[in-house]
Amino acid sequence: MSRVALVTGGSRGIGEAISRALQAAGYSVAATYAGNDEKAAAFTAATGIKTYKWNVADYEASAAGIAQVEADLGPVEIVVANAGITRDAAFHKMTPDMWNDVVATNLTGVFNTVHPVWPGMRERGFGRVIVISSINGQKGQMGQVNYAATKAGDLGIVKSLAQEGARKGITANAICPGYIGTEMVRAIPEKVLNEVIIPQIPAGRLGEPEEIARCVTFLASDDSGFINGSTISANGAQFVV
Ligand code: CAA
Repeated sequence: MSRVALVTGGSRGIGEAISRALQAAGYSVAATYAGNDEKAAAFTAATGIKTYKWNVADYEASAAGIAQVEADLGPVEIVVANAGITRDAAFHKMTPDMWNDVVATNLTGVFNTVHPVWPGMRERGFGRVIVISSINGQKGQMGQVNYAATKAGDLGIVKSLAQEGARKGITANAICPGYIGTEMVRAIPEKVLNEVIIPQIPAGRLGEPEEIARCVTFLASDDSGFINGSTISANGAQFVV
């Protein structure tokens, strides 16, 4: 029977590409979304991948949603914590709500997504935790004190989980995408994107969601068991660590 993969924020953007790639690799995929019913329905119609609606910032909703996924498809053995939001503003204009929303989704949301599946992974002696962090968690970014803090925090989560899970056959790794051609990046003021950001990318272009999805299928594989606690940077050489 195929392994079950859960992808949060899995019906749009990078998450959609991840869901599709995991399905193509033979996994049984469940994709979550937070609000866009229309897009989720279109995604399911196009792919046959079932979607589930919950807010990753809400622990109880996450635990109940994951229980439903497991009742429908079987135990979650691959979890991709991908759901994330931006609330960009210069720090002097950043409100507490902008801080709290981003922390709740991008950082606490990872805890809420992984924590409910962790005991089952430990019991079964197998698990793959893949967290989608960001280049901006590695290097910082003007306008993103909130986002960069959460994405750096996600790296701390992964490095710690890797050490806790290794003896139980569980790996935890992060992917740090650079600027990928999704709605989130297209929301950056056009002049800033074209005149400031793209010229900073030695590859001379935005990344494609599929380029991140391929990193996920690689890490999800049964053969990737010794890769643990690592970070894959996929950013067109914009930031080299
Ligand atoms: N890098 C370098 N310079 C930047 C910049 C960036 N990312 N963003 C803005 N600037 C520069 C602008 O070019 C401008 O310079 P000049 O004064 O010389 O013209 C200056 O900063 C002020 O910019 P704004 O006029 O836009 O000022 P603002 O206060 O209205 O907004 C901002 C500031 C919030 C930083 C806004 O410019 C912005 O949103 N920038 C993009 C921030 C960003 O990179 N977000 C990433 C979103 S995608 C993502 O998060 C996915 C991921 O993981 C990579």
